[in-house]
Amino acid sequence: MPRPFLFGTNFKMNQTPAESARFYEELTRSVEPPPGVGLFVIPPFTSLAAVMDRRPPGGGGPWVGAQNMHWESEGAYTGEISAPMLLALGVDLVLLGHAERRGHGQETDETLNKKLLAAAAARLRVLFCVGETAAEKGYGVGPETVARQLKIGLHGLDEEFLPRLQIAYEPVWSIGAGGTPAAPGDVAPIAAHLRATLAARFGPAGSDVPILYGGSVTPANAAGFVRLPDVDGLFVGRAAWTVDGYRDVLAAALVARVASRR
Ligand code: PGA
Repeated sequence: MPRPFLFGTNFKMNQTPAESARFYEELTRSVEPPPGVGLFVIPPFTSLAAVMDRRPPGGGGPWVGAQNMHWESEGAYTGEISAPMLLALGVDLVLLGHAERRGHGQETDETLNKKLLAAAAARLRVLFCVGETAAEKGYGVGPETVARQLKIGLHGLDEEFLPRLQIAYEPVWSIGAGGTPAAPGDVAPIAAHLRATLAARFGPAGSDVPILYGGSVTPANAAGFVRLPDVDGLFVGRAAWTVDGYRDVLAAALVARVASRR
């Protein structure tokens, strides 16, 4: 079976519950993804309940994700959110290992492994981010860095979890307003290395895990990434924070994707 094409955005620390709910409702009303295409939206925790209220009756609509979670299910962890809390809201997905959380020192490969194990036990979908810093790129250790993040993050997980796993390759140097947009030529070898690392770890089922690209994606550069054979979707920040922007990047990606897979 061909891998699905996944597309979504993370609002980071932006938007009130009302703004996120309006975004989700308008997106759901105005975008009908073709077969084999999955959409998702990752608002801040405070918006999750309001967004879930806009879910079309009977489910459907883009997946809704949380930006983080703790590995314990409850306890003395002020300010944290657990998997059972996310499940109680009905969210589909949890984002783990975003560079902005790794970078502030709140996440290590080891704590991310605990979170992935907890998410797998809760049967939550996971969007797991990996990516090298500018310094690591400069030393030529990008492939080793992402493989290490992947291997430690997925340590102890078995094949049964794979249908609920998606990886986002997000080079730290390309993310956000201060980032340098990557070229497809930067992304192709790392995506291929991630695919090979997954296959070496899990066998053929590892090759089916979707790998998304993220970092300064825009309607103008989306096509170059989705044409790459190991890229199965896009994880977009700023360019998709309006419904028009989300639709524009998605449209550019789908046109290029269809043309390249003919
Ligand atoms: P950006 O964010 O598209 O605004 O660079 C991407 C991300 O942080 O996931």
